[in-house]
Amino acid sequence: MTDVIVEETTALAVRAGREAGEIIRDGMSQPFDVDMKGRRDLVTSIDRESEALIIRTIRGRHPEDRIVAEESAPVSPGEGTGEGTGRAWIIDPLDGTNNFAHGYPFFCVSIAIEEGGELVAGVAYDPLRDELFVAERGRGARLNGEPIHVSTTESLSDSIVATGFPYDRTEGSENNLANLNRFILSVRGIRRGGSAVLDLVYVACGRLDGFWELNLNIWDVAAGGLIVREAGGTVTNFSGEGWDHTTGDIVAGNSLIHTQMTNIVGSGGQS
Ligand code: IPD
Ligand code: CA
Ligand code: CA
Repeated sequence: MTDVIVEETTALAVRAGREAGEIIRDGMSQPFDVDMKGRRDLVTSIDRESEALIIRTIRGRHPEDRIVAEESAPVSPGEGTGEGTGRAWIIDPLDGTNNFAHGYPFFCVSIAIEEGGELVAGVAYDPLRDELFVAERGRGARLNGEPIHVSTTESLSDSIVATGFPYDRTEGSENNLANLNRFILSVRGIRRGGSAVLDLVYVACGRLDGFWELNLNIWDVAAGGLIVREAGGTVTNFSGEGWDHTTGDIVAGNSLIHTQMTNIVGSGGQS
């Protein structure tokens, strides 16, 4: 089925995401350079090539728009929105870089569009499975053109949830281990996929029931979070009251288990 996309900007994000996905797919079978951004935080030449293509594609059509992209414009959460035309493109050119660099097949491209500080579209493309997740605000979420919905699992004890851990977990106090200890006693299973964006869109299509993580960046959550919301799920920060996508903590799930999840992340006073 063809993608059902209304806005020209979303269609542009889809085109950029698909073309970047080709770079990543081809990159798996070629030599690539790896640099360390931190002790565990890698960047490859494929991340950079993917990002360059996406930015070139967007700039070609919307040269005045703000671009917030992981590898070329590091910003603090909250920066990079609402300037110029009021539109911002939030780009993770390769979410799951560690997986990619190790040949572990779980990674994607993520592009979100913000207008006046509000998320209006989200695109995530998994090049290995040729899976394109798209949401436009108020118009639902789709996987390869078909509408998707979050799961209907009612209880955390019947749920499979996913999470991740910050790269600086040995340096910072927020390492997510206290949350992990609490969740593991409450759920059917926990997965650590290594791509926050794919974790989120897997919640959106019901493959996972929920996802939580902390200390993420805006490009890790913006597209996936909107896609979960448009698929009927609930997305908030750890407090459970609303979602500010410019902050690093997120709890996403179907609305039946979401409160059970925020009770867990909020219950220990430690992350
Ligand atoms: C990372 C992945 C991972 C999450 C990290 C992110 P990157 O993004 O989404 O699952 O646990 O916090 O930084 O570095 O592969 O783009
Ligand atoms: Ca990422
Ligand atoms: Ca990345």
